Amino acid sequence: MKHTPERPLRVAILISGRGSNMQALAQTVVAERLPVDICTVLANRPDAAGLAWARAQGLPAEALSHKTFDSRDAFDAALLARLDALRPDYILLAGFMRVLGSDFVRHFDGKIINIHPSLLPAFPGLHTHQQALAQGVQWHGCTVHFVTPVLDHGPIIAQGAIPVLAGDTPDHLAARLLPVEHQVYTQVLRWLAEGRVSLCADGRVQLDGAPHRAWAGPHLFNEQDCHEHE
Ligand code: GAR
Repeated sequence: MKHTPERPLRVAILISGRGSNMQALAQTVVAERLPVDICTVLANRPDAAGLAWARAQGLPAEALSHKTFDSRDAFDAALLARLDALRPDYILLAGFMRVLGSDFVRHFDGKIINIHPSLLPAFPGLHTHQQALAQGVQWHGCTVHFVTPVLDHGPIIAQGAIPVLAGDTPDHLAARLLPVEHQVYTQVLRWLAEGRVSLCADGRVQLDGAPHRAWAGPHLFNEQDCHEHE
């Protein structure tokens, strides 16, 4: 469905820390007047820096601390109840560092989208930049995908890639990848707002009704980046 200012796409953005992806999404909504209503920016850590930023922008922002729950299931149940009350069309995980249980994921089947800092299916889990360097890959990147109960799997919507350069460290890779993450995630948000992306019953992603191979842009890095660490 193509969204309009009268019928905006409702998204909940879940974060755990800095929230730079969330900021990129929120800034794009404003700058491009996308028909998107950010119904909450929710963090599982009350001290998440992204929450303060969201509040300063006048966005609805709230914390649901996982530490106040006895179990993973109890946290998931509370998060589920809160999100059900908000009725988002999509739940965008943007640096949300809690693993969500399969009951939660199934409840919001096809509605949860995540950004992961690797070219999935390579390097699920943590320390992806370190993993990429350890494996000697020449290309690294990020993936925006629908969330399924299997961690860091699920139908891929878009990817962005950067070359691995001589002398790169995990920090170099993280820093060079972050602006690409922002580009890729904001492109996916545009597609969602325009009603162009869908998840088919066979688990494949379609863009404009056709099978989709996702590349968020032709030039996601520039010459200068390529020589930076040589
Ligand atoms: C981003 O690099 C994101 O891809 C990653 O955490 C960072 C959050 O940064 N997410 C994961 O590792 C999820 N498994 P941000 O808070 O500045 O958006």
